[in-house]
Amino acid sequence: MGRLDGRIAFVTGAGSIGPGWGNGKAAAVLFAREGARVACCDISAAAAEETAGLIRAEGGEALALAGDVTDLEAVHTMVSQACDAFGGIDILHNNVGTLELGGPVETSLESWNRVMAVNVTSMFLTCKAVLPVMVARQGGAIVNVSSVGAITSVGPTYVSYAASKAAVNQFTRAVALDYAGRNIRANAIMPGLMRTPMVEKTLGAGMSADEVDAMLRRRDAACPAGRMGDAWDVAKLAAFLASDDAAYITGQVIAVDGGLTLRSSTF
Ligand SMILES: NC(=O)c1ccc[n+]([C@@H]2O[C@H](COP(=O)([O-])OP(=O)(O)OC[C@H]3O[C@@H](n4cnc5c(N)ncnc54)[C@H](O)[C@@H]3O)[C@@H](O)[C@H]2O)c1
Repeated sequence: MGRLDGRIAFVTGAGSIGPGWGNGKAAAVLFAREGARVACCDISAAAAEETAGLIRAEGGEALALAGDVTDLEAVHTMVSQACDAFGGIDILHNNVGTLELGGPVETSLESWNRVMAVNVTSMFLTCKAVLPVMVARQGGAIVNVSSVGAITSVGPTYVSYAASKAAVNQFTRAVALDYAGRNIRANAIMPGLMRTPMVEKTLGAGMSADEVDAMLRRRDAACPAGRMGDAWDVAKLAAFLASDDAAYITGQVIAVDGGLTLRSSTF
């Protein structure tokens, strides 16, 4: 018996932007291992299909959905496709997120708007489309991926990312309170310094291989645990929060960070 037997999950950003395990890809695969049927949504059709293929290869059921979660029409289409294929949605895992470096002066308005759209508006749109489905099914669980960047600085300046993730935290609490009486829970996860393809691709952009290596070692050293976490650390909390083991937990924002936010200075 899996903890998510019989459940239907909708995972945004279910692929990963590079080879290896991103948070969304690991969560989609773990949800399936726990018994859920999984709609894998990604702006990249190939990335969505890759994750769906991994699930099917393990004997699970998955649907690949290509679409942009910042687009209301695309979100409604993907939610309808998932409902048509599986009969509803019980778990909404809002994993999509992007990071662009800079303070208010260096960040262009376009960059600011892009980060807000991908990190916050996407969650507003998926909730808009999925909550009525959950209400009709008389229950559901929403798990939003935030970041420790919402509450602290971990080194680089990324004002839009920090503000967007802080918005994710309070958006989660507001939805949780609104829907607590309707058996729908909403919680957020704040990953710390994780070793995912996003790190090399985004923070390591323009760096040489040696510089990337040094950056990764600095990230390991910055964690009180002595090492970065990985996508599975995030996925395991997501599976717990999505399951009935967390039936009385809602509106919570939980760090998965190896103790990172316990210290006031990092690196
Ligand atoms: N890696 C870390 O250290 C770290 C730390 C804190 C928080 N996070 C958070 O984890 C989440 C992402 O994790 P990941 O490893 O899965 O990231 P990722 O960058 O690998 O992205 C996952 C997928 O999202 C897709 N995507 C991007 N924009 C999209 C859009 N508009 N519509 C649909 N799909 C889109 C990409 O194509 C990609 O396949 C983000 O919310 C990020 O902020 C990561």
